[in-house]
Amino acid sequence: MFKKETYIARREQLRKDIGHGIIILPGNHEAPCNYPDNTYWFRQDSTFLYFFGLQREDLVGVLDCDSGKDYVFANDYDIDDIIWTGPLPSVKELAASAGVDNSGDLKALQDFCDKALNEGRNVKYLPPYRADTIEQLSALLGLRHERVIPYASRKLIMACVKQRSVKSDEELAEIEKAIATAYNMHVSAMKNAMPGRYEYELAAIMQGEAWRGNGPLSFPIIMTIHGETLHNHGHNNQLVEGRMLVMDAGCETPMNYCSDITRSVPVGGRFNERQKTIYEIVLNANLEAIRIARPGVTYKDIHTATSRILAQGYKDLGILRGDIDDIVANGAHSLLMPHGLGHMMGLDVHDMENYGQINVGYDDETHPSSQFGLSSLRFGRKSQPGFVITDEPGCYFIPALIDKWRAEGKCKDFINFDELEKWKDFGGIRIEDDIVITDTGCRVLGKPIPKTVAEIEATMNE
Ligand code: GLY
Ligand code: MN
Ligand code: MN
Repeated sequence: MFKKETYIARREQLRKDIGHGIIILPGNHEAPCNYPDNTYWFRQDSTFLYFFGLQREDLVGVLDCDSGKDYVFANDYDIDDIIWTGPLPSVKELAASAGVDNSGDLKALQDFCDKALNEGRNVKYLPPYRADTIEQLSALLGLRHERVIPYASRKLIMACVKQRSVKSDEELAEIEKAIATAYNMHVSAMKNAMPGRYEYELAAIMQGEAWRGNGPLSFPIIMTIHGETLHNHGHNNQLVEGRMLVMDAGCETPMNYCSDITRSVPVGGRFNERQKTIYEIVLNANLEAIRIARPGVTYKDIHTATSRILAQGYKDLGILRGDIDDIVANGAHSLLMPHGLGHMMGLDVHDMENYGQINVGYDDETHPSSQFGLSSLRFGRKSQPGFVITDEPGCYFIPALIDKWRAEGKCKDFINFDELEKWKDFGGIRIEDDIVITDTGCRVLGKPIPKTVAEIEATMNE
């Protein structure tokens, strides 16, 4: 964890922003996989990590905005646990390591909540995303299960979004460690992307590199020669020459800061003409975002600017036709990129998505679009220095979607469906970097991972 002063300052700021009442921040519990003692990999709740930095299961943090006191509650382990787990710090010791002077067991937490409710104090919590946390809040606060999510505090959500959106230098250093491991994951996989290998073998190489960097994956690996399926988690295909391999993968550091990188490479290590053409259109869109992202510019506008680059590329190929502004305004290009340019990243790969995307990615000035493609943009509002965002344009020839639009005549003035037929067997390409907004522009985080056609071919043929 960071030094305790970091967590003390974060909690102090949150108490100040909320003003009065009590904030309850439950950590995560172990989650059973197929029987209670066989659990999934433990992942602490990111808000709990942000304000307390503690990795143990079953912890609950409480901030009392009126007294200025912070608390950590959980039951201590006893000898029946310790014979299985080995010696573990007490809850009091854990609390102290996060700069928290007050601690107690779960009975004390229930007493604390009962007293607060009896005194009519305001109690705030964030929307829980796990059933066991809903259950816990329901019991602590005497709420029916179905009331727990609707009664979550928007004021608390917005205060957490405000703090967590701006990454400090120590957070950026953690994210860059996660990208350093992602570099190893991607370069190792690239070098092995040869005909005859299986997607699962390359996914295994990546997973091994993630663990070699001492962290879990930040989301399930996408490793597919069918990159036209945006989140394709199947890994059973054998690599064949002529296919693009889409590799979208990242990891977490031991403190759970994330990376999220995509590279798309030609199986065998040499781009053919068609692959090079589409790749460079997508690359130009990725580079355009890096060129123009800066404080005060909305990511929605950057998404649109990169859409213009994609649209021009497809127009030059004869797939689209008409005026570029009209193509983009009508969303015709979204047939080939039905997702947004990016999302925030930090302690979550889609940072704070549990708070509700509207609260994280949009604000009073910038509203989500309902247009196909743009409606999937997770982060649209103006950026500030310290925001970490992904820049991930792509091009996907999705046969079922092409057929549907053709049958419906959707955007038919802008799309040459006959020309598009020739591309239906292409697959997909995505290129994803993680950027931080600086005072004057943005910086691509981490050691550069091979990205141009020349760099990828050189790496794959070393
Ligand atoms: N890997 C999921 C994403 O790029 O958002
Ligand atoms: Mn990704
Ligand atoms: Mn991403």
